[in-house]
Amino acid sequence: MINILVTGGTGFIGSHTCVELLEKGYEVVVLDNLCNSKESAIDRIKKITGKNLKFYKADLLDIEAVDKVFSENKIDAVIHFAGLKAVGESVEKPLEYYENNLGGTFNLIKTMKKYNVNKFVFSSSATVYGMDNNVPYTEDMPTSATNPYGYTKVMIEQILKDITVADKKLSIVALRYFNPIGAHESGLIGEDPHGIPNNLVPYVAQVALGRLDALRIFGNDYDTPDGTGIRDYIHVTDLAVGHLAALEYADKNVGFQPINLGTGKGTSVLEVVKAYEKACGREIKFNITERRAGDIAVSYAETTLAKKLLGWEAKRDIDKMCADSWNFTINNTEGM
Ligand code: NAD
Ligand code: WQD
Repeated sequence: MINILVTGGTGFIGSHTCVELLEKGYEVVVLDNLCNSKESAIDRIKKITGKNLKFYKADLLDIEAVDKVFSENKIDAVIHFAGLKAVGESVEKPLEYYENNLGGTFNLIKTMKKYNVNKFVFSSSATVYGMDNNVPYTEDMPTSATNPYGYTKVMIEQILKDITVADKKLSIVALRYFNPIGAHESGLIGEDPHGIPNNLVPYVAQVALGRLDALRIFGNDYDTPDGTGIRDYIHVTDLAVGHLAALEYADKNVGFQPINLGTGKGTSVLEVVKAYEKACGREIKFNITERRAGDIAVSYAETTLAKKLLGWEAKRDIDKMCADSWNFTINNTEGM
């Protein structure tokens, strides 16, 4: 297994995964339509690794463009990050989310079949555990969703499972990410959201920079030790390394396998704020506001399966995540 197609490879998690792939000697081909990222990510990946990679600016909804990538490259396996991911926006634009995330995946797997590519790693999400399961989340729990974005992940997982039943050559790993944060140590690549961030850490970073006045903490009356929501934050580099382990697993096994990628440890919003203050040496102002609709109190992973099947576990703690996020933020005040 040498040549890896990375869809969404200029995005946040994809770019970090390209770095790890190149550093381990894989050849990388990136396909991205740049709807939520910039081509500069490619130059930065090259700068970090000193290696070359191929880039196609192409939309997964354009099956001829996808075909061109497969016809021009001998692809051995695919890591599929490309998709729209903003929960709130998915409620406003459900059709766009279903069309992009499902339609893009259909074109990709149809083209894989045409070119006899059978190894596939999919970006799923802890969001598939919905509202009704108890922590820690295990991969055998029933899946559900509360918004169109979440449903795209639930539906795609089901489709991927069904196609592995019909085609015994297929090997598909669905990695269920918990809350990816942080940035590459170099400060060259990281999360670069457009406009006002929705997620906690990018928002806190903007408060630290002085671009936003204060964090709104969405509720301090949850049934948690300090009353604020608890999540399983995971360093994006740990997550990226998990994809290499998943590729190796897919190389040796067939069928459909969902696997959690988290640390197994929960951190509250107030603990994140404290860790970020330590990282940046500045005060993070905050106000307590109403709970955000759709939020749950606590989410964290059971990580046994990842250790057992992939031999992988997260290494970086919340202090390192915040330090690397701040290093990226302060070095990229005008974006990437
Ligand atoms: P991102 O937006 O930074 O990266 C996704 C990339 O896909 C972007 O570069 C975008 O331009 C590209 N893309 C979108 N639609 C496309 C299309 N039709 N054709 C070609 N390219 C397209 O997001 P990310 O945070 O790196 O997330 C990567 C994947 O992981 C997504 O599938 C996301 O749903 C999933 N995920 C993310 C998180 C998170 O919190 N970041 C958590 C769980 C799962
Ligand atoms: C974390 C905590 C908030 C912002 C989302 C998606 C999920 C996955 C990851 C893709 C919660 C609190 C947040 C703010 C706050 N993405 N918060 N003030 O909601 O766990 O997960 O991203 O698959 O599907 O739903 O992440 O970073 O938005 O929130 O108090 O301004 O921070 O209430 O407790 P979430 P988040």
